Amino acid sequence: MEIMTDLMSKIISLAKRRGFIFPSSEIYGGFGSCYDYGPLGVEMKNNIKKAWWDEMTKFHENIVGLDAAILMSPKVWQASGHLTAGFADELVECKKCHHRFRKDPALFNKGPGNKCPDCGGELTEPRKFNLMMRTFVGPLEDEAALTYLRAETCQGIYMNFENVLQSMRMKIPFGIAQIGKAFRNEITPKDFLFRMREFEQMELQWLCHPKDAPKFFDYWKEERIKWYSNFGFKKENIRIQEIPEKERAHYAKRQIDIEYKFPFGWKEIEGVHNRGDWDLSNHSKYSGKDLKYYDEETKEKYFPHIIETSVGVDRLMLGFLSDSYQEIKGGRTKTTKATKELEILLNLDKRIAPIKTAILPLVRNKSELVKKAKEVYQALKPIFTCQYDELGSIGRRYRRQDEIGTIFCLTIDFESLKHDDLTVRDRNTMKQERVKIEDLIKVLKEKLEN
Ligand code: GAP
Repeated sequence: MEIMTDLMSKIISLAKRRGFIFPSSEIYGGFGSCYDYGPLGVEMKNNIKKAWWDEMTKFHENIVGLDAAILMSPKVWQASGHLTAGFADELVECKKCHHRFRKDPALFNKGPGNKCPDCGGELTEPRKFNLMMRTFVGPLEDEAALTYLRAETCQGIYMNFENVLQSMRMKIPFGIAQIGKAFRNEITPKDFLFRMREFEQMELQWLCHPKDAPKFFDYWKEERIKWYSNFGFKKENIRIQEIPEKERAHYAKRQIDIEYKFPFGWKEIEGVHNRGDWDLSNHSKYSGKDLKYYDEETKEKYFPHIIETSVGVDRLMLGFLSDSYQEIKGGRTKTTKATKELEILLNLDKRIAPIKTAILPLVRNKSELVKKAKEVYQALKPIFTCQYDELGSIGRRYRRQDEIGTIFCLTIDFESLKHDDLTVRDRNTMKQERVKIEDLIKVLKEKLEN
């Protein structure tokens, strides 16, 4: 039986307790909407990024990577439309308690948003609030030195479109993929990793002939939906929303949001946008550099159109945690007295789980068992992420590993001393199989890589 109450606070608590996510600057009371990734969090985040990167650059044709600087000329942001009303949220303030809120169209159009969500007081008329994070470059804090932390990573891709085209001899259609930090001065950051002021994006810009843009939009939409099911997201927790014209991002001719059913409701996890020639034509206009593509075969010259897929690493992390979190009552683990306890299981995809194997000597007061377990740990550590744990009953240790999603628990018992083998326990089925230590790496590789 699964019991789900207040899932969000349970996830936040697990994330902190087990070293996934910590609030930033915690000893100073935290720092609004910024979070730090702990030892398990950084492993998991790296796995998420690798999964996306491989998907784009290995499992698709004609996609190359890029890592552009966060700081760019402020002219980039003038041309992209981010300094004008296009990239602003509407801010409302409660006349009674003076709390400020982002005017969320989904909420406000339905009525309840006309009152303060905190005290029910009357709200002010909305005013525009630009989300770009300002910073100063160089020693003088004057306007000349003003620039911005990038609000979306893709602008770095447009800046390098020609460099990539020429250096890699790319031909349309092709894609450029990038993972990196982005910053937005969000009015009301909230819901843990969902809306942060510093976050990470994974963006693909697919450049194609204008006539092919609708076809590639559909293609990328399907590819991205497949990705979620390939990584074990529950089908019923993913849906697509076609965004009507008046709610679209300022650059989008067409936009769909891939939504995930977060513990606080359906929300965007990823966007797929047809940006048309918005970016390249504006950057051509503002920079004076012709960014049109010349097709050698057809002798045609045109601005490539761009289909973008854009997903936040942190939002995806929250999605993975929410989707995989399970509470099971009724003794999954039978080797402990505490079979009636509620057990927590993170049913993460094996590619995403932060720890692949845990090495557990059955008892710790038997030095031969500990010695053998440590030898196994040393042999596996350079190959798979491993934890060594000898504290507490074996059942309790299995539960500790289930709670962080460890794929295999490897137990060294008395038989191991005689036969030079150990048991491999599968997180989901809890089945145990004996494997010779000399075959262990091969067996684990097969299990983890297939
Ligand atoms: N280049 C297009 C772009 O940036 P977006 O819909 O504004 O589009 C894309 O953002 C994705 O980035 C979102 O679907 C979300 O996953 C992530 N994202 C955006 N703002 C975020 C924030 N404040 N905190 C965490 N993730 C965010």
